[in-house]
Amino acid sequence: MTEPVRVGLLGIGTVGSGTYRVLERNRAEIARRAGRRIEIAWVCARDRERARGIVGPGVPVVDDAVGAVADPATEIVVEAIGGTGIAKDAVIAAIEHGKHVVTANKALLALHGNEIFAAASARGVMIAFEAAVAGCIPTIKVLREGLVANRIEWIAGIVNGTSNFILSEMRAKGLPFAEVLAEAQRLGYAEADPTFDVEGIDAAHKMSLLAAIGFGIPVQFTRAHVEGITGITDKDVSYAEKLGYRIKLLGIARRTPEGIELRVHPTLIPATRLIANVEGPTNAILIKGDAAGVTLYQGAGAGSEPTASAVIADIVDVTRLMRAEPQERVPHLAFQADALSDIPILPMADVETSYYLRVRVKDQVGVLADLARALADAGISIDSMLQQGAGDDENETDIVILTHQTRERNFDAAIARVVELPSVSGDYTRIRREDLL
Ligand code: NDP
Ligand code: HSE
Repeated sequence: MTEPVRVGLLGIGTVGSGTYRVLERNRAEIARRAGRRIEIAWVCARDRERARGIVGPGVPVVDDAVGAVADPATEIVVEAIGGTGIAKDAVIAAIEHGKHVVTANKALLALHGNEIFAAASARGVMIAFEAAVAGCIPTIKVLREGLVANRIEWIAGIVNGTSNFILSEMRAKGLPFAEVLAEAQRLGYAEADPTFDVEGIDAAHKMSLLAAIGFGIPVQFTRAHVEGITGITDKDVSYAEKLGYRIKLLGIARRTPEGIELRVHPTLIPATRLIANVEGPTNAILIKGDAAGVTLYQGAGAGSEPTASAVIADIVDVTRLMRAEPQERVPHLAFQADALSDIPILPMADVETSYYLRVRVKDQVGVLADLARALADAGISIDSMLQQGAGDDENETDIVILTHQTRERNFDAAIARVVELPSVSGDYTRIRREDLL
């Protein structure tokens, strides 16, 4: 076997330590696949004592990320620091020094991916980022290689483990939001700033990468529509169940004749669908291609060793391909860089979907007719309805309406009318609904 490939590890937290551990544990098996031994040349962390406790005395530990990547003997830099500060500086420096980069950092690529990919292409190095989307699931590999024959029609997925864990625990055990979030943090699932998880930002980072790879467009996170799970109440979870649905934080990227839908929001999914039953930190992604039809991928979406699995898959891929000419490698965004398309991202107002609407109303004659009129005037047809108990106030009741498909701008117009109705208390919830067929 030829000499080992030397890898520098930026960050030795949840992802970095898992990567180190799995590389050590499966060293021989991985070398048999890669054709070379993978050797950790150095590790970088701010707390060097803590890092030494993980890697032992044999591996140098440094604390200057940008300086470390200049090491001439290092061929691959793994970035597992996170964020868009020092991580970006170190990745750019690594590219300038001619190193291949493996990163788990979706925030960095969602915000600066176009610049980073261009810099890497100009320098003839690879940026591999399987771990940035859906933990251990080889989604990037599937889209860039496995489904290369297909015109991708849509991608929909549960791509944030923390929020799926929270929704699952709230539904199954009735645990409060804050308690489950603290547990997700303890288990290493959550981002350094967990609002990224619960407000849908992390999922949108990932979906903007999947949309780019699926449709051959630049990464456009800032055009994504982003809503998180903080507005979901027990009531809505229970009404959804009664209507035969589960609520999931879903990322959707869909090609339409007018442009690309790119959105993350809580979504009602029929409870009979496999993806509606994906629980805990597990992620699941559905991809519809014109030739393959719908395919489903599921696995751990966060956590130390599941994410390490994806990081190491990239290290091996890069090891196998580093001697190939750049034009013979798989393009960063699946499509050749000069063949990217400028199909626009659709504004949310133009997106077509169906809705769950819950309104709190006075329990009196004519309320239903008023609601139906407001929807009808906006051209929205009602699919089904549920009227549910009085709750705290016996003069009030919840009405839940499922609509047929309409444009979001029509639904917004109807809502503006509904909240002005004298019989409506003003408290309403809107959740989009997808059948994913
Ligand atoms: P952690 O916070 O657990 O680890 C971050 C590591 O980076 C620590 O070792 C930390 O060192 C080091 N670090 C931070 N700042 C610096 C700095 N200025 N200079 C040198 N080292 C620094 O994060 P995670 O492992 O959870 O996440 C890392 C990346 O992986 C993020 O981009 C995240 O989004 C992504 N990711 C995380 C997943 C997960 O399940 N946790 C899954 C998929 C992707 P020190 O402790 O000494 O400060
Ligand atoms: N915080 C992320 C999640 C980590 O919960 O999905 C995996 O990307």
